[in-house]
Amino acid sequence: MTQHKTAGDALHVERAEGAILHVRKGDVEGQTRPIIDGVSSWWVNTHGHCHPKIVKAVQEQAAKLEQVIFAGFTHDPAEKLTRKLISTVRTEFRRCEGSALEFAFYSDSGSTSIEIALKMAIGYFAEKGEKRHRIIALDGGYHGDTFGTMSTGSRGVFNEQFEPFLFDVKHMPFPRKGIEGKVLSYFNRYLKKYGSEVAAFVFEPLVQGAAGMRIYSPAVLKKMASMCREHGILLIADEVMTGFGRTGSMFACSKAGFKPDLLCLSKGITGGFLPMGATLATREIYKAFYKDTKAEQFFHSTSFTANPMACAAAVASLEIWEDEPVLENIQRVCESHRRAAGWFSARPDVAEVRVKGSIFAVEVEDDNGGYLSDMAQPLYDFMLDNGVLLRPIGNIAYILPPYCIKEEELEKIYETLWRGLDMVRDRGKKKASEDDGRAANEHRRYQNVA
Ligand SMILES: Cc1ncc(COP(=O)(O)O)c(C=O)c1O
Repeated sequence: MTQHKTAGDALHVERAEGAILHVRKGDVEGQTRPIIDGVSSWWVNTHGHCHPKIVKAVQEQAAKLEQVIFAGFTHDPAEKLTRKLISTVRTEFRRCEGSALEFAFYSDSGSTSIEIALKMAIGYFAEKGEKRHRIIALDGGYHGDTFGTMSTGSRGVFNEQFEPFLFDVKHMPFPRKGIEGKVLSYFNRYLKKYGSEVAAFVFEPLVQGAAGMRIYSPAVLKKMASMCREHGILLIADEVMTGFGRTGSMFACSKAGFKPDLLCLSKGITGGFLPMGATLATREIYKAFYKDTKAEQFFHSTSFTANPMACAAAVASLEIWEDEPVLENIQRVCESHRRAAGWFSARPDVAEVRVKGSIFAVEVEDDNGGYLSDMAQPLYDFMLDNGVLLRPIGNIAYILPPYCIKEEELEKIYETLWRGLDMVRDRGKKKASEDDGRAANEHRRYQNVA
């Protein structure tokens, strides 16, 4: 996701704590300047960098058992994590319809957690002897960069080169405000025709991250889920970004009132310390592969599955959720975002401001919008020069901070973003007047020649 020919030099991070990255100044080791991590280091960090409880857990685990094959072997951190995850999910989804998520498969990233869920869904129907060859997803969805996840993700500049190698997925229109009814009836019509051939519906619940923090209604998601249930379609919730508090509750899906059949977690699972993916599944899915022959087992391996240090980090992170006021912090961040949303939405150059839990997004008016919008790079550079890391997605600038972020740090982000948008606006005006000047010159030259 970096064009090396045009990007500046990468910044050298020496250390980090809380929401602050200490970035090397010039080339001098030990001399640093602070940068506020306004994107939780690509949405992974939840409790702040180098949280002492996670540091301690990882150090202790590294000294005891750093890694071991997890086929035919088990260990304390994996067992502890599984018990904790299953009970957290049980509590969070207690009022939701659907079967309990009782089993966990560990891998090492968000993409692998989805890839594994897809394989489980396809394998589940194969084991049951049902022919279901279709997958449905939402337009604008992003599920990772492996081939299976690129196939389920929306098509665009990200994956254009690979398009001929991607498998077919039906992308349903995104149910944005105002067209929900139309989308639901389209969804219904499609399922009436093909529902019995669909294996799974893959979706990012409530917020599509990479599409630019696009928000949709829990009631619509619930309706989509119940239509899928009527046709026996498995629900794969991609909570890689939304999981672990981003939308204001532990998981986004529970707000829509149903339990998915497969729940994909990553990023915040270890508090953002170590790579880990988890695919949680129902007993029914587990049982589909629980047979007498090896040929019917679930075929997937990941060398570092259930890495003991990653499991220890994840257990420590879940303990922080129990011991510290994490939800209160998210609520505080959300309230600050709402206040800031009031100011930003009054700007004439802002098309929309979106807030969901700890996520804040400003969509800037831009005729040449989308991922390749030319405002993203100057805004990114401006923010960094002023001590803030934001990484706009095209014409959408968003803030997704660690929950420990202080009020004054948030204020600094809003204030810098405000000035950054002024810079983008003035730059646009300057460019427009230069373009006008060039056009007038061309016209004069043409008249002289004529
Ligand atoms: C919703 C969602 N799913 C999956 C992924 C892929 O995760 P990873 O980059 O860890 O493979 C991402 C990454 O941003 C994501 O936002």
